[in-house]
Amino acid sequence: MSKILSIKDKIKKFNKRIQISGDKSLSIRWVLLASQAIGKSKAYNLLMSEDVLAAIACIKKLGIKVRINKNYCEIIGNGINGFRYKENLVINAKNSGTLGRLILGLLIKSPKKIKIIGDKSLSKRDFSRVTLPLEKFGAKFYYKIKNKLPLTLHGSQSIKGIKYLENKGSAQCKSSVMFAALNASGKTSIRAKKSRNHSELLFKYLKIPIKIKKSKKYDFIDIKKPKKINAFNYQIPGDISSSAFFMVLTTLTTNSKLLIKDVNINSSRIGVIVILKKMGAKIFLKNQRNYRGEKISDILIKSSNNLKAINCPPNLNSSAIDEFLVIFLVAAKAKGISYFKDVSELNQKESPRLNWGSKILNMMGIKTELTKDSIKIYGQPNLEIKKPIIIKNYLKDHRVFMMSTIAALTCGGQWKIYDKDSINTSFPSFLKIIKKISN
Ligand code: S3P
Repeated sequence: MSKILSIKDKIKKFNKRIQISGDKSLSIRWVLLASQAIGKSKAYNLLMSEDVLAAIACIKKLGIKVRINKNYCEIIGNGINGFRYKENLVINAKNSGTLGRLILGLLIKSPKKIKIIGDKSLSKRDFSRVTLPLEKFGAKFYYKIKNKLPLTLHGSQSIKGIKYLENKGSAQCKSSVMFAALNASGKTSIRAKKSRNHSELLFKYLKIPIKIKKSKKYDFIDIKKPKKINAFNYQIPGDISSSAFFMVLTTLTTNSKLLIKDVNINSSRIGVIVILKKMGAKIFLKNQRNYRGEKISDILIKSSNNLKAINCPPNLNSSAIDEFLVIFLVAAKAKGISYFKDVSELNQKESPRLNWGSKILNMMGIKTELTKDSIKIYGQPNLEIKKPIIIKNYLKDHRVFMMSTIAALTCGGQWKIYDKDSINTSFPSFLKIIKKISN
């Protein structure tokens, strides 16, 4: 039975301070890289969501010891390509594109065949974007249905470095190739359109031979196989993508104020802050500090009653890629017509998110003009929804659920949002934090 969240009332004004759970991208990368290190690594504030638990389950199946304690998680790595497992192993990436794509890079040298499966949503997503470059290293991939999971990987013992152009601005593609490079002889050279750079920062911190040159649009990354990776402890900072829902909740609620503690504000992730500020949101970064190449900050948000439309510069797309649904919500309440272009990648996510964003705004009474890769949103600053709205059959996309919840709490109407458990993918404490803010 799918659990339904019913919301009938808008949230009342608030002044609160919250802590957000650990960053999903960093949590998955820590699990995967700790599995390749030698010895015991520990992570504090690791995100305990389904995507990360799926990563842990995968490396356990691959013979790695993991212990989950109250305040930290411990992984005992066996070194690069040190996985131990039987013939015909099946691993399950569940809902996680990041896990499914990155782990393939680590498995590129596996002598035995491994099948990788995913849930209904992940099985609709394109995997050729990673298997094409990974084939160039020398591995083989077999699909039942073209470019979709399940797929079978057959690694090779002679993995050689490649030259790769990543032209979508996808950190998953870039990182999958970077992880494969850990196993490759010679040099791997990547020219990558700008995208989140957590893998690069971790490689640097772990002293993996990596050189990076930057131009305006591309990063040029050279990687050589390291002799070994030493075990490493890591304190995972808060997730800016999860924080974004609360930035928008506060922006759209009158006379309110929220402080979010210890959030990762890596410059390749802060598109949401840049875009919302351009639209008139009041967002301030406090107590900024550095941690192992990452930047961390507290974020203070105050309500805004003067939001204006944006013609969103496409060079911000990659740094806000997971936040567009809530950004669209702000556009719905802003004065004027907002325009977001070159955003076709949104339809490659856990659900076709560009289409879902438009559909939900339409249900709310907002006019949109949608194409395959753009959306225009006709804002209504005085929008007050009076009717019932039902959100269901959205492939359990966690961000569709959370965007709908924020819409219900800020725009009125009587909402029934199906598949409450979808939040477990990235942000299990989402509704608890909403409750805390509401009291
Ligand atoms: C992620 C990269 C992004 C993002 C996803 C997490 C990552 O995907 O949407 O939620 O951790 O590398 P793409 O790199 O495919 O855009």
